[in-house]
This record gives sequence, C-alpha cells and structure tokens, in this order.
Amino acid sequence: MTDDTFDPFDVIFIGGGPGGYIGAIKAAQLGLNTACVEMRGTLGGTCLNVGCIPSKALLQSSHLYHEAEADFAAHGIKTSGLALDLKAMMARKDTVVKDLTTGIAGLFKKNKVTYIPGRGRVTDAGTVQVTLADGGERTLKTENIVIATGSDVMGLPGVEIDEKTIVSSTGALTLNKVPKHLVVIGGGYIGLEMGSVWGRLGAKVTVVEFLDRITPGMDGELSRHLQRALTAQGMEFRLGTKVTGVKKAKSGVELTVEPAKGGDAETLKANVVLVSIGRKPYTDGLGLAEVGVTMDDRGFIPVDEDYQTNVAGIFAIGDILPDRPMLAHKAEEEGVVVAEKIAGHVGTVNYDAIPGVCYTWPEVATVGQSEDDLKAAGTPYNKGRFAFAANSRARASGDTEGGFVKLLADKETDRLLGAHIIGPDAGTMIAELVLALEMGASSEDIALTCHAHPTLNEAVKEAALAVTGKTLNS
Ligand code: FAD
Ligand code: NAI
Repeated sequence: MTDDTFDPFDVIFIGGGPGGYIGAIKAAQLGLNTACVEMRGTLGGTCLNVGCIPSKALLQSSHLYHEAEADFAAHGIKTSGLALDLKAMMARKDTVVKDLTTGIAGLFKKNKVTYIPGRGRVTDAGTVQVTLADGGERTLKTENIVIATGSDVMGLPGVEIDEKTIVSSTGALTLNKVPKHLVVIGGGYIGLEMGSVWGRLGAKVTVVEFLDRITPGMDGELSRHLQRALTAQGMEFRLGTKVTGVKKAKSGVELTVEPAKGGDAETLKANVVLVSIGRKPYTDGLGLAEVGVTMDDRGFIPVDEDYQTNVAGIFAIGDILPDRPMLAHKAEEEGVVVAEKIAGHVGTVNYDAIPGVCYTWPEVATVGQSEDDLKAAGTPYNKGRFAFAANSRARASGDTEGGFVKLLADKETDRLLGAHIIGPDAGTMIAELVLALEMGASSEDIALTCHAHPTLNEAVKEAALAVTGKTLNS
C-alpha cells in the first residue's frame, strides 16, 4: 500500500459519468490541472455502462426485430425463418458500451485529464483520499472538488433485487432469455423503455403504476397518446395500483397488488419483475457529512448558482442535485458550467430548455412548458398541432401511428413556450425546437424557416403554422 501526495490539482471530479467526465475535459481545456476519480473500472458512469447507451442499443435491436416481424410485409418484404439470437444481441450491446467507455479514456489522454481509477472520499475541502482500484491508497490535494457521483437504483421496501428474477434496470439489460411475463413496477422512462425492449422480443408486459397515469411530468396529452400506442403494441397497464408485496415463488415471482386508493388485493404472477420506481442520489462512503456538506432528507446535495455546496471549494453536479431532471445531457451541461465557474469564467445552464426524450416507439420528446403547466400557471397560450398522418415522409416510411407535433406559444407575443412531439424520431426532431426556445424564437420564426422536403421536420413547420391556424398541408 502506498500513500503518496500528488502535486496539488486545481480540481478533482469524483465520478466519471456524463457530469464528471465532461466537466473534467472542459476544466482541462480551460487550463486547469484536473483529475477524475472513478470507481467503476470504466468511465461513462450510469449512462454509458448501465443506462442510456445499453438501453438504446437494445431498443434499436428489438425495434429492428419487431419491424422485421410486424412491418416488413407491408413494404413488400417477405421474411422466413426470422429468429432471435438474444446472445448476439446482448454481445452487440456490450461491444457498443465497451467502445464508447474506452473512448472516454482516450479523450482524457488527449485533453490531459489525470484518470484515477478508485473510490474517492473527501477528507477535507482540499483533500480526496482514494482507495485505488488496483490496491493501495492515495491522498490527493486539490483546490476544488466536484461531487459527480450520480444516482443508484431505488428499491421497494422489503423487496430484494437479485438481478435475475427481481431486477432493476441493470438486470433488465442482461436477461439471458425472454421472460414469458414481465411485470414492470413503475410506468416511467425506464419501465416503458425496458418494457418495450422485452415486449418486442416476445414477452407479455404488464406495467403496474401507482398514479392514474404513466410518465408523470410529461404533457398529459402525449402521455395518454403514448399509453394508447403501447397498449396497441400489447403492453398492459394497471394504473392507480400499488404493489404491496413481491415474493419469489417456485417458478418466477408473485406480486400482491391493490388499488392505490384502497380495495381488494390480488395476485399477479410473473417470470421476471422489473423495479423501476425512480433513482436515488449516490453518496455512499464519500465522507460528506463528516466534512460538513449539507444533504437534504432524501440525500440530494443542494448547491448555489455556482454549483457550490455549503462548504467552500466543494461543488456538486448531475443526478446528485435535487429538484432537477436526472438526465445525462443535463449533467453534461452542469459539468461544463461548473468547470467554467471554477476557472473564473461565466456560464449558466438554462433549465427551461432541457429536452426530455422517451425512446419508446413512437418516441416522445418534449422541451419547455407542457400544456398542463401553462393551464396551472394561468398563462394564455396559442396551440398549434400537426399530425404525422399528414406528413409525406411519415407516410412514405409507414410511420404515422397517430403521432403529432404540438407547439405552445405565448398568446400575446407568440414566443415559443413549449414543444412536444410524439412520433418517429421525435428525439432527433426536438433539437430545432430546443434551439428555438434558447433563441427566444416565435412560432412565426419557425413557420418562416425553410424545412427540407420530404422530411419529418416539416411537421414542425406545419405545427408552427397551425399556431395561427394557417397550415398548408392539412
Ligand atoms: P452517473 O452517470 O451515475 O455517474 C456517476 C459515477 O460516479 C458512477 O460511474 C459511479 O461509479 C461513480 N462514483 C460514485 N461514487 C464514487 C466514489 N466515491 N468514487 C469514485 N467514483 C464514484 N439519461 C438520458 O439523458 N437519456 C437516456 O436515454 C437515459 N437512459 C437511461 C437508462 C437507464 C436504464 C438509466 C438507469 C438511466 C438513464 N438515463 C438517461 C439517466 C442518466 O444515466 C443519468 O442522468 C446520468 O448518467 C447522470 O450522470 P452523472 O454524471 O450525474 O452520474
Ligand atoms: P421515473 O421517475 O421516470 O418513473 C418512476 C415511476 O414509478 C413513476 O411513474 C412513479 O409514479 C412510479 N412509482 C413510484 N413508486 C411506485 C410504486 N411503489 N408502485 C408503482 N409505481 C410507482 O423513474 P425511472 O423510470 O425509474 O427512471 C429513473 C430516472 O432515469 C428518471 O428520472 C429518468 O430521468 C432517467 N431515465 C431517463 C431516460 C431517458 O431520458 N430516455 C431513460 C431511462 C431513465
């Protein structure tokens, strides 16, 4: 065991996820002597290792399988002998993850970020003690510390996740066979994305959701539409239902459920249960309480507008922050801004223009205020809506499925307040509306912008025209 003292760093990021690794690269680019401590063994955090990337790899593979099974015939493509090679699908996903995570180590080298594999603990505002991954301890001195340790799976009280039959998202990414019946607890992003993967591959999927709607926080019209689309794909929903017990049976798992508002209990049988009821902040073993960093009652770390905690020189970014969405691109923005602040520059994250995308099919992408938000705030607005059924590219591709683009603009000034898309490639299409929101554009600005034909984005232009009732193609 060695106990060296390094030259002092300007900043050490603890955690190499999207917040920490992007922040470290930005800090180094701004000339700061930067280190990043990561205990996982690979860089990229939850997102690249067990989150965004592996889930999107499986969503893409399962989408292709489902298309071959259900949609090719309509295009005049006959298939025979279509079969699932789950092992190969999983291996492909693992390769995607490996390539991307090792790529970050390369980016660190290129940008001169010191990568320290190991578990970090803050011993005072200027010291990080690292239990090195390959053995030994190191004491690192630094001017600034950024906590970017992210989040972890939130369990259900009394339910033991074994990652085989009772799984979190991590286990749901590595099942070695398609379960006959998958019961998903929680109708949020993880439940619907992973439910879609296994449903497309042949599982019967039942989503048990405590509230009387799925995807809380999403514009209600899109949420209802998404539920209809997923139901049409075979997903079953038990809304307003709470799980009161989960126990392993001889084969599979038995769940006891009852109406959230009270009523008779019933038993659901499943082969695999996915617990996806949210994520909690991860600060285990960081020593934050000992150095006086304040955490709220759920373990999140409050910060000021510079991302500084109540202790000078200790900052926090990413999923560990309270009351903000747990999203990789949000963590990245915060990583950049905290680096800028520490380097003495100015920077800010516009939380009003953070897009959210649910990568089901159809995809759902939203930015800005929902119609429910505007109604609740009593903000007068105009609404423009355009259906993909009237978009030529969507029809050519066979991707109409009743999706639409909805734009919400201030009634008086026409300034864009919110944009919501449910349909093919919504996650890519939302980008122009995020930019519009950032630039303070009006719906008229969007309507006056030339959009290539035939593209899905023409539906955005038409929705902008619809704000003033002037659509050209419907
Ligand atoms: P993390 O990515 O959690 O990284 C924190 C890192 O810190 C971890 O690698 C951890 O090992 C390390 N760490 C913790 N403690 C220590 C310590 N003491 N010492 C050293 N290292 C430590 N978001 C999206 O925007 N789009 C998506 O499509 C999407 N899909 C998702 C799918 C799933 C299944 C899940 C679970 C999440 C998904 N997310 C998605 C959310 C996204 O992964 C997170 O918002 C994002 O990873 C948060 O980044 P972060 O840097 O704050 O934390
Ligand atoms: P979530 O917060 O999106 O959804 C959890 C759902 O579980 C909610 O609908 C909630 O009402 C419900 N719920 C809570 N307790 C329950 C109970 N006891 N019984 C039944 N239902 C219950 O959380 P999820 O899906 O676990 O995802 C965690 C985080 O990961 C999210 O905050 C999301 O931001 C992020 N993520 C983002 C993705 C994306 O951007 N595409 C994909 C996957 C995850």
